[in-house]
Amino acid sequence: MLKRLTVVVFIAAGLLALLAGLVAVAGPGRAEAVPAFARQYDLQCNACHTRPPRLNRFGEQFHMMGFQIPSAAQPGGIVTNVREDGTVKTLIDSLALRVEGGLFEYSASPRETETKFAPPDEITLFVARPLLPELSIFIEIEGEPNAVAFENGRYFQRGQFGLGKEAFFMLNLGRLLGALGAPTMEMGGQTMVGTHGGFSMHGPMLMAGKVDPNTNFSYATNRQLIAPTELEVAHGKVERLPVVPYAFASKFFGLFKNRDEREPQLATDQVMYNTSGAPGADFHAMLNDVVLGQVGFLRENEGFNTYMAARFDLLDRGEFTFNVSALMNWGFGVVRAPDPEDHNQPGSNRLDRLRYGMAANVRWKQLDVYGAVIWDRLYGLPGELRGSFDRSATGLTIQVDYLVHEKVMLSSRFDQLWAGGLKDEKRDGSVLSLQAKFYPWQNIAFFVRDSVNLRSFVENSPLRNWRNQLFVGIDWGF
Ligand code: HEC
Repeated sequence: MLKRLTVVVFIAAGLLALLAGLVAVAGPGRAEAVPAFARQYDLQCNACHTRPPRLNRFGEQFHMMGFQIPSAAQPGGIVTNVREDGTVKTLIDSLALRVEGGLFEYSASPRETETKFAPPDEITLFVARPLLPELSIFIEIEGEPNAVAFENGRYFQRGQFGLGKEAFFMLNLGRLLGALGAPTMEMGGQTMVGTHGGFSMHGPMLMAGKVDPNTNFSYATNRQLIAPTELEVAHGKVERLPVVPYAFASKFFGLFKNRDEREPQLATDQVMYNTSGAPGADFHAMLNDVVLGQVGFLRENEGFNTYMAARFDLLDRGEFTFNVSALMNWGFGVVRAPDPEDHNQPGSNRLDRLRYGMAANVRWKQLDVYGAVIWDRLYGLPGELRGSFDRSATGLTIQVDYLVHEKVMLSSRFDQLWAGGLKDEKRDGSVLSLQAKFYPWQNIAFFVRDSVNLRSFVENSPLRNWRNQLFVGIDWGF
């Protein structure tokens, strides 16, 4: 019942967003259809994005400040919007729709070469809006026609509808610090801790719900220009692992998420701080527009993890910016080791995971280079597994984006996995991906992308049983 209701709401809201898009296209004075933030602030996509979905420096700051632009804030919040623009426009301006996916897929391996048409992978409806100068919401409702589900020990494809990766509110706690005696300044109804011309602090911001904390990291996991490929399953088993930025992946072979469902934690799953969204609470604060500090905790599988991250914006000279980030992340009982007797079953031990690493990002004119190295180490492994299980792993990811033309973004990414886990199952991986993305309009992109397995083909390894994967796809936002 609830599911059907969600579907109906989803479709209705989708139609509304579609209508909004059409109105915006047809309407005078508006050149393009624009998603929620662009409509609310009357800005072009490229004000906040190098090219959607990647954020530029302004877009990142906009995110850090809780989806607010202090100079354009509505002191009366959403009540003023409704009074001035009417309920319908306010509602439409809060919605955005994104359709992502393949149009065509070609994959080559010595055994079989496949060519197929690929339907859209993901349709997401966003509800995003500042409600008050110090409070915003961001909610994703997602439909995935080809989602892979795991049930009764088997993988299979099943369309899924529901809450998407992220659904949270962001609240500025600056006023609270003010009440406790800290000096504060005010702008557009927003409180900033500090003094004019002196020290200043945005936040602390509380982001709670289903959150993606790494959004502030020098290399954010979400919002990739080169989208992750889909997990492929056959006969209830994983056939091919997706191509993802390996630095942020789980990296271990043979682990399980939980005991009851016995669901594997795949080596390519984005986990811990680098999740694409998990229930939790995140606090971040930005000092003097230079240092961003962040702490928080996230639920993960049967345990939870806590993290500390810092980002330094060392250079910020208009066309030349440089920032680095560091991470320290501890997971309490977040994964299960395999049963020492039967490696296909989860064992009785829950493991702790230490994750740490760093990332950097340089932008110079049309060039955007970012990379990360992340180390993982497991604790609490049963003694019987010591000989057959490697408990540390590392991942490296480097990406270069180059805007060769107003409408063409070229990207390339290198991913290196030094895997951990069961020694007879684990494989290292090295993948090079190249992509050309063409934006006939700011909000629509067509892409051609090719990933090459730089290592030898290994028939029985889901990480390495391919040579080449070519995709043609579309990414379209209203
Ligand atoms: C005022 C700034 C701003 C403008 C203008 C803007 N965006 Fe965004 N956009 C953001 C921020 C911030 C996020 C990240 C939200 C998050 O993930 O928490 C984002 C995320 C996105 C995403 C990724 C959503 C996801 O998580 O799947 C897409 C796609 C996107 N924007 C497209 C567009 C397009 C297309 C336009 C113009 C028509 C546009 N944006 C205009 C700020 C902006």
